[in-house]
Amino acid sequence: MVLPGTAVNQLEHLDEELETLRTSFDTSYAWRYGNVKEGLRDLYEKAKREQWNGTTQLKWDTDVDPEHGILPEQLNPLNGFAPYERLTAKEKDHLRHGQISLQLSQFLHGEQGALIVASQLVGAVPWIDAKYYAGTQTMDEARHVEVFARYIEKLDEIRPIAPSLKGILDTTLETGDWMKKLVGMQIVVEGLALYAFREMRNTTEEPLLKELLTYVARDESRHHAYGVQYIERCVPCLSDAARGELEDFALECARTLIDRNSQGFFTTLLQIWQEVGVDPVAMLTSLDKERHELVREVPRGKRLGPVQGFVIPTLRRCGLLSERVASHFHGFLRENFGSRVAGENVDEFLRILPDLPADTARWVMGEIQ
Ligand SMILES: [Fe+2]
Ligand SMILES: [Fe+2]
Repeated sequence: MVLPGTAVNQLEHLDEELETLRTSFDTSYAWRYGNVKEGLRDLYEKAKREQWNGTTQLKWDTDVDPEHGILPEQLNPLNGFAPYERLTAKEKDHLRHGQISLQLSQFLHGEQGALIVASQLVGAVPWIDAKYYAGTQTMDEARHVEVFARYIEKLDEIRPIAPSLKGILDTTLETGDWMKKLVGMQIVVEGLALYAFREMRNTTEEPLLKELLTYVARDESRHHAYGVQYIERCVPCLSDAARGELEDFALECARTLIDRNSQGFFTTLLQIWQEVGVDPVAMLTSLDKERHELVREVPRGKRLGPVQGFVIPTLRRCGLLSERVASHFHGFLRENFGSRVAGENVDEFLRILPDLPADTARWVMGEIQ
């Protein structure tokens, strides 16, 4: 068991602690090499043109201070809360260090999951163009793991994967159904990653991290495009039962991400608060009050979080948001965020659900909303 806040010099120790998962899925040969699928072939060409080398293209000699300057203090969600304000400067530094390590550790572990799933996709997907593309994505994800691992060394602290993220990765790796792998990976995990990378890239003041996320997020927007192009082509060919199963799979993955009771990112965050002596109950009460106020001001249709802001719009685009599954999504979003965010009923929920950005690559760079 890896303890929270393991020093990075123990990364090798993590390596030794291999965790094995038994997986089984049908692997296919695609003998029709001339079977060009336009959109997918174009994305493959784009992926080849946009390859980059983190070793030489990022300025690794940049000094990074994990306690200051990675994320702007004015964007700290804890700002202004009495329990936070009572902390000493040193405790606040420790908290900032813990939070950034926690977040980047999730990026790192998530990227490793993406690397393994992408490699499975090479074997699992039909069509030669889909295999070509999954091959480039495997290379991309390897590079992402490499650069995040190298960056985390500068923070000198690594934290274990959040159980909710681990759960989604396990489920996606373990399913024998390649369409479910695509939905779990290209829609849910990539949607989550895109959303989180965009936020961090556009707020961080640390130049190395900003540059790293610029490269990584550009790759991720291509991965998401692959998922959309491929899945929206395949969904109309599915039986009603198979489509329903896929919808349920996506629903369960997304539910794990925002369920407040699930052992997620949030649980670890509470742990960090406790480490610096912040009472989680007092902090949560303050935060809850603040959230209600925040939500009251929210303009309808604004992208609020990765699930409502990105994952569900992608499912709709791919033909995987039937009325049945939309009502489940609406139910648990309303439970977690209230009807101001989720809408009073399913009709309103669907009406205020934002569309996917017109250009995901530009959206992720913060150029469009
Ligand atoms: Fe990635
Ligand atoms: Fe990716």
